[in-house]
Amino acid sequence: MLRPNLPLDRQFLATLLACLPGFVVLGVLAVSNYLAWPAALLGAAALFVVSWPLVRLYLGDITVFARFIARLSGGDGVAEPPSFKLSVAAEELSRAATALHANWRLQNIALLAASSASKRILDGLPDPLIAVDRVRRITHINANAEAMFGTQAIGRDLASVLRQPQALAAVDASLAGGDASIVEFISSARVETVQMVHIVRLKEPAGDGTAVLLAFHDVTALRRTERMRADFVANASHELKTPISTLLGFIETLRGAAKDDEEARTRFLAIMDEQAQRMARLVNDLLSLSDIELREHTRPNTPVDAGAVLRSVLDLFELRARQRSIGLKLEIDSDSTMVLGDRDELGQVFQNLVDNAIKYSRNGATVRCHVERLNESLRIAVIDQGEGIAESHLPRLTERFYRVDDARSRKLGGTGLGLAIVKHIVNRHRGQLQIDSVVGQGTTVAVTLPLAPPLSALQDAAPGSRRTA
Ligand SMILES: Nc1ncnc2c1ncn2[C@@H]1O[C@H](COP(=O)(O)OP(=O)(O)OP(=O)(O)O)[C@@H](O)[C@H]1O
Ligand SMILES: [Mg+2]
Repeated sequence: MLRPNLPLDRQFLATLLACLPGFVVLGVLAVSNYLAWPAALLGAAALFVVSWPLVRLYLGDITVFARFIARLSGGDGVAEPPSFKLSVAAEELSRAATALHANWRLQNIALLAASSASKRILDGLPDPLIAVDRVRRITHINANAEAMFGTQAIGRDLASVLRQPQALAAVDASLAGGDASIVEFISSARVETVQMVHIVRLKEPAGDGTAVLLAFHDVTALRRTERMRADFVANASHELKTPISTLLGFIETLRGAAKDDEEARTRFLAIMDEQAQRMARLVNDLLSLSDIELREHTRPNTPVDAGAVLRSVLDLFELRARQRSIGLKLEIDSDSTMVLGDRDELGQVFQNLVDNAIKYSRNGATVRCHVERLNESLRIAVIDQGEGIAESHLPRLTERFYRVDDARSRKLGGTGLGLAIVKHIVNRHRGQLQIDSVVGQGTTVAVTLPLAPPLSALQDAAPGSRRTA
């Protein structure tokens, strides 16, 4: 380090100050006649001349020390302490400052690491999170919140990214000392979602001023399930209510006005029987649906001949089809029709599909069942030449109680649960359901099921089986 050039007037003044005690002593000696004035003046001048270089060196050391401290605080790397000409104190102080600076740097590195770890943890949270200070300015925003509300939000008022008056009012209330609160709102950022936001005030504001946290949670699926459950209960009750009121009405009539009317009794009992059958079918379908739902996560694993199941289902419908001159055709284009599945459930699937195909076909039409192998799957398609289904209905056909023509399906004895049951069974089999339809031309409902591995592979996999070389 270069020795600094001190201004002359500073050097002069400092030397004068350093010599001041000597000047006072010489002055006192001269006044008290112990020393002659010329000798005292000569002594003072000699003292000044001798002190000047010493004071200069000393001041230089102090300035070097000051510049060294300035370098350290300027954020330079750890510098070697400079060498000093005279001041031992400056030397000691420099060494202490160097150690202090090295220590500070280590702490700073640890602090930066901790802050970047916190940021990564916040960014890794699956839910969006925003933190605001006492004046509702955003102090932190994690990656998911940035994806939802946009970047460059730090320092801005929360209202500029979250335009939800209810949520903002809850944040203000929380900042004013209110309790934690939960607000739900519909967000239309990108896709429409239902968001639940927890607004929590920190016990003590953080060092950077953060006072309130907003943790968002997407509850769209939850709300949709709740709505579906409510709709389901309403639909099921409605479906049961109709036959029950019919039954009650006829019971009353049979007890009163038609008490002694033999002919009316026979007719009414036939209607009552039909309504009771309808209720029984509905309850059976509901039970079947809930039973399949409960088992949906366990995949059936017995080899089943899907071709044979389909054939026996078609046999069941033979008479009904013949009555309406509908032809039933089975085409099998695969050497193996073995799938891993549950025989009864697959029977239920094919019954529903063939039933629909016959039900919604004109008299004299043909219903074709086509079975083919697609890679490692078996595709079973039930193809009819019926009235077809408009495209807008296709995505909703597997919803419970969804019917294209409510009155017509009801008249044909349908509960509207058939395809919902089919969908759940196919899901349980890890298969796929595809419905294609052209209005006026017909509908194709295809089920794709994973093929069963060859028998030898199954035997090898069975517990206790042994391979022979
Ligand atoms: N092959 C088809 N052709 C025309 N419409 C169909 C066909 N299959 C299903 N649909 C329509 O889809 C609706 C839902 O079918 P789904 O099998 O779930 O109920 P459903 O047949 O009315 O009653 P269920 O099967 O419980 O007796 C039907 O009401 C009908 O409108
Ligand atoms: Mg059906």
